[in-house]
Amino acid sequence: MSNDGVNQKRRRFLTGATCVVGAAGVAGAAVPFVGSWFPSAKAKAAGAPVKINIGKLEPGSMMIEEWRGKPVYVVRRSAEALASLEKQTGKLNDPESQKSEQPQYVDPVTRSIKDEYLILVGLCTHLGCAPKYRPEVGAADLGGDEWLGGFFCPCHGSKFDLAGRVYAGVPAPTNLAVPPHSYESDNVVVIGIDTEAAA
Ligand code: FES
Repeated sequence: MSNDGVNQKRRRFLTGATCVVGAAGVAGAAVPFVGSWFPSAKAKAAGAPVKINIGKLEPGSMMIEEWRGKPVYVVRRSAEALASLEKQTGKLNDPESQKSEQPQYVDPVTRSIKDEYLILVGLCTHLGCAPKYRPEVGAADLGGDEWLGGFFCPCHGSKFDLAGRVYAGVPAPTNLAVPPHSYESDNVVVIGIDTEAAA
């Protein structure tokens, strides 16, 4: 896979959870000016794929990177978190992601290529606020025993499970989007590259 055009200028968003430094940037090649119909180097960089090093992400933790001006959440799910997903089905609006945005190579229930790693666009599907990562099972302010961990949008109260699937009866209509992505290696995921190898 080419490293050209990898966006080195991405900003990191840090959360209250464990913060992990992303992959070291890779030198981007200069983009020659070939014709006026080609996008500028700046525009190209803004849409370029982003590499994220997930090697130090602890189970249960989340890191945030930026891709195309949007936050991308990467959560490393524990075995307990994965086991909780099937318990949520009856409470969700779109449990198999029929109406939601995700690549076809992503499992419709876990919403991931690798079960352990959940990768989402961190924008609420209601009006675009950034949902907060709330992995604490039984959080009193989120329903107590009913809450098995997930994401909570503070703007209008939408809730999502640990696959980014939206609960029924909240303002958000669909699950959090899964961006196109693929794995360059066990520890490096590339956001924005959607290759057949990822299928
Ligand atoms: S923007 Fe998230 S609930 Fe309205």
